[in-house]
Amino acid sequence: MKSAGEKITMVTVADAPTAALAAAAGVEMLLVGDSLAMTVLGYGSTLPLTVEESLHHCKAARRGAPDAFIIGDMTFMSYQVSMDEALRNAGRYMKEANCNCVKLEGGSRFAPLVAKLVDCGIPVVAHAGLLPQRVEAMGGYRVQGRTEEAAKQLIEDAHALEDAGAFALVLECIPADLATKITGELAIPTIGIGAGPGCDGQVQVLFDLLGMFEHRPKHAKCYAEVGTSIREALTSYVKDVKSGAFPAKENSF
Ligand code: KIV
Repeated sequence: MKSAGEKITMVTVADAPTAALAAAAGVEMLLVGDSLAMTVLGYGSTLPLTVEESLHHCKAARRGAPDAFIIGDMTFMSYQVSMDEALRNAGRYMKEANCNCVKLEGGSRFAPLVAKLVDCGIPVVAHAGLLPQRVEAMGGYRVQGRTEEAAKQLIEDAHALEDAGAFALVLECIPADLATKITGELAIPTIGIGAGPGCDGQVQVLFDLLGMFEHRPKHAKCYAEVGTSIREALTSYVKDVKSGAFPAKENSF
């Protein structure tokens, strides 16, 4: 698709219905992103998410979209401690949840791990730029690669991850010009989130696209107002039950 100039779509999913809907809409890659820690499980960041929790959601996504291309997002500390532990955990995404590949956050320091996983038959999507798993170290969710030095480092990271065998690279929250430059230099596709239109594809968090929450990240576009729809629907339900309008005769046996 990169060489054909066809843009690639990726969206996060969290369970069987969201995976089924995304697949039916023609989204090419479904990411069971660790952002579900915040959007679905109510954690304050992605850090607390465990491998067990993540696998639970990956398995549900697979049941909802049996033929889709599903990416398991390796959780914080599931691949940083040692190569052995990372391999074992990555294997769980493939064996237990039937994912097609894994994604992990990090720059060139993680290139040896990417090479090892690929060598074992586990395809890897790399993730550079803003790394939400490093939110404490980075001092918040900030656009990355703004200085010349940081941009140079990101370009080096991108090449190292490609050379290690990653088959795609997510670029999160970096200047559009830098993402375009990286995209032009790499043979593998770049998938941007807050990285401008020059990437080979785009990824977004499902609930940001659907308008589920009041918080609206600048890089997302709301294609629906699902949060408002749910609240209004449930308000009507409460009203109808209280008034006796529901259940009506047609809802009764
Ligand atoms: O978990 C997630 O939602 C992600 C995207 C930001 C790419 O990793």
